[in-house]
Amino acid sequence: MSQLLPTELTRTLDKNGKEIKTVGFLRFGFDSEVPIDLVRTLYLRPHYIISASADAKDETVEAQNQSKSIYYPDTHAVSYTTLSRFPPVKLLSPSVRKRVLVTGGAGFVGSHLIDRLMLLGHEVTVLDNFFTGSKTTVNHWVGHPNFELVRHDVIEPFMIECDQIYHLACPASPPHYQIDEVKTLQTSFMGTLNMLELAKRNKARFLITSTSEVYGDPEVHPQYEDYWGHVNPIGPRACYDEGKRVAETLTYGFQHRDGVDVRVARIFNTYVNPADGRVVSNFIVQALRGEDITVYGDGSQTRSFQYIHDLIDGLIALMNSNETRPVNIGNSDEFTIGDFAELVREIVEKVQRDDGVTPSRQVEIVYRPIPTDDPKRRRPDTTRAKETLNWQPRWSVRMGIEEMVRYFKAKLAEGSI
Ligand SMILES: NC(=O)c1ccc[n+]([C@@H]2O[C@H](COP(=O)([O-])OP(=O)(O)OC[C@H]3O[C@@H](n4cnc5c(N)ncnc54)[C@H](O)[C@@H]3O)[C@@H](O)[C@H]2O)c1
Repeated sequence: MSQLLPTELTRTLDKNGKEIKTVGFLRFGFDSEVPIDLVRTLYLRPHYIISASADAKDETVEAQNQSKSIYYPDTHAVSYTTLSRFPPVKLLSPSVRKRVLVTGGAGFVGSHLIDRLMLLGHEVTVLDNFFTGSKTTVNHWVGHPNFELVRHDVIEPFMIECDQIYHLACPASPPHYQIDEVKTLQTSFMGTLNMLELAKRNKARFLITSTSEVYGDPEVHPQYEDYWGHVNPIGPRACYDEGKRVAETLTYGFQHRDGVDVRVARIFNTYVNPADGRVVSNFIVQALRGEDITVYGDGSQTRSFQYIHDLIDGLIALMNSNETRPVNIGNSDEFTIGDFAELVREIVEKVQRDDGVTPSRQVEIVYRPIPTDDPKRRRPDTTRAKETLNWQPRWSVRMGIEEMVRYFKAKLAEGSI
């Protein structure tokens, strides 16, 4: 199997046609900038390589930070190997280095945040119960002196000394949060309560990752932060939507009562978690497998999609800013789901052409009945993020999707999705 390495990717241009060489920036006294190619060696790495002989050839600079674990197809077994060298991290003086706790750090967003904070030289502890997250997302840091991974369910109290808490722990996709609605609500309420108690005790700054779902099926477009939302409190999405709403209320309760220093990020659709059952991963995987792309509804409902690096930039900027009001973090380029399905199909076809693959037929786009309470329109108003954080998304949807299509293709070949 060929490995997906950064050198294989096309040049990445931002929305203004400028090449993206780094992610992050120096803002509010916090430097979050790292080279994009270094980050790519972490998130585009394969879980394992397919054979021992391939391992021997795999000595490029880009491969140094990647797993050398070996898959034996004959016995369908994996031999895990520890890294001989960790990715290089910045050396920070103790006065600059932060002790950062990230709950849900083994999940999709969390693991990208961990990579960034680790490369920047901070001390990072991940708290996760591995409900939807996986150790494989952060295992390249296990054993590093700046890193700790703790299996813990946030519905139970937890004690640690820290300066900043990014509270992400919560399943984020409907197939996951609907498995046990009561548990999702417990995680939202009890988990947030416990982490706020911890922030209070430590005088740590606390950031919660809330969601655009607090706006429900909105009657106002685009959604700005002062809009109160339109949520069905007993619908199939309620455990998540109402859970996040009460988590926000709790967060501001601790600010008002105890003076806890809080930040609230309302995240809009961010791609892409390989197996989260959400629209971006579904479309890419279906098209790569040559299956028809399934659109729920007539395809006229709209969504906006943000690439993970923009989100991480926004979260770090918010954490280190003085903005205590909720802030939307999302990409305001709006697509109908039908148009988005066509875009994914086109990009998959381009990647296949680039790789010299000729599919036996063109993938069709098929339409199925829309689930209850599926929002009809979703688009963030990001004026506040622009004005107070000086943050705007840089990645075009096309660039991000193309990178992910190549990554998913490698993972399908690897057999890990
Ligand atoms: N990805 C998005 O598009 C998006 C959009 C809006 C909001 N968010 C928010 O961002 C955060 C991260 O989302 P994600 O996409 O990375 O989801 P994810 O499911 O990949 O990650 C969530 C992580 O939290 C962990 N977790 C869940 N319940 C837990 C518990 N009780 N105790 C400890 N750990 C627990 C999971 O194991 C997982 O590692 C969530 O709070 C989510 O609500 C994400």
